Amino acid sequence: MDDSKTFILKIYRGNPGRQYWEEFEFPNEPYANVISALMDVQRNPVNRQGIKVEPVVWEQGCLEEVCGSCSMLINGKPRQACTAIISGIIKQTNSNIITLAPFTKFPLVRDLIVDRSLMFDNLKKVHAWIDVDGVYNRGPGPKISQAKQEVMYSLSTCMTCGCCVEACPQTNQHSKYVGPQIMAQVRLFNDNPTGKMQRRKRLRPLMEEGGIGDCGNAQNCGPACPKHIPLHDAIAAIGRDVTLQSLKDLFSLPDRD
Ligand code: SF4
Ligand code: SF4
Ligand code: FES
Repeated sequence: MDDSKTFILKIYRGNPGRQYWEEFEFPNEPYANVISALMDVQRNPVNRQGIKVEPVVWEQGCLEEVCGSCSMLINGKPRQACTAIISGIIKQTNSNIITLAPFTKFPLVRDLIVDRSLMFDNLKKVHAWIDVDGVYNRGPGPKISQAKQEVMYSLSTCMTCGCCVEACPQTNQHSKYVGPQIMAQVRLFNDNPTGKMQRRKRLRPLMEEGGIGDCGNAQNCGPACPKHIPLHDAIAAIGRDVTLQSLKDLFSLPDRD
C-alpha cells in the first residue's frame, strides 16, 4: 500500500484546443475527497513547480451524488468528484497520483467543465416528461404494481451526469446517437399509466437516425452508471417497443392502450 504523506492531483486542464497536464501536491488528509482537494487548489493555486497559476475550475452542486454536475474522469473512470475519497483511491490504485480530466464526449468549456446541454436537448426531443392539464384533485391514479414501481424508482434516480454517455463507444461530439440515458428515461415515462398515453411521441424519435438503431449493444453503459440504473434492460425494452410501434405505423394498425 502507498503510505505517502502527500498526494498529487494531476489535472488535464485548459481551454478548447489547448489542454495540458498540471500537477498540485497536498497533504494526505483522512476523508478528503476530490472536491475538497480542488477547493485546496482554488485557495492556493500553486503548482508542483511552485508557480502560481490560474485556479482550476470545475462544477459542483449537491455534494452528495445527486445532481451529477461534478462528474469527470478520475483515473480515467467516469464518476462524481464529490464521492471520490482520496484515501480510498490511493489504497485502490496503490499510487498517490490521481488524474482528473474533463469528459471527452461533450464540448469542453474550460478545465474540468464540459457542456452537457446535449443530454437535456435529447430529453426534450423524446418528450421526457408527462403533460398535466391542471392541478385539481383527480383522485387516486391507476395502480402500479410493486415490481414496476421498483424499476421505475431506479430509472427515476438518473441525475443526467453523463457517465453512461462517456462510457458508450457509440457517442462522441459528432454522433447523433441520443445515448443510453435517454432510453432509460423513455422507459420511465412510458411505464407511467398517464405518461403511456404519449408513448408514441417518445418512441418515434427513437426510430430516426440517432435513435435505438445506433446502439451497438456494447453494454459499457450499465457498469458506468453510479446509480446502478438497469440501462441494458431499458435498452432491450425500448428496442421491443420501437419495433412494435414501427410495425403499427407501417400497417396503420390501431393502438390498444
Ligand atoms: S449498450 Fe453499448 S452502444 Fe448501447 S448505449 Fe450502452 S454502451 Fe452505448
Ligand atoms: S443513466 Fe446513470 S450514468 Fe447515465 S446519466 Fe443517468 S445517472 Fe448518469
Ligand atoms: S456535486 Fe452533485 S453529484 Fe457531485
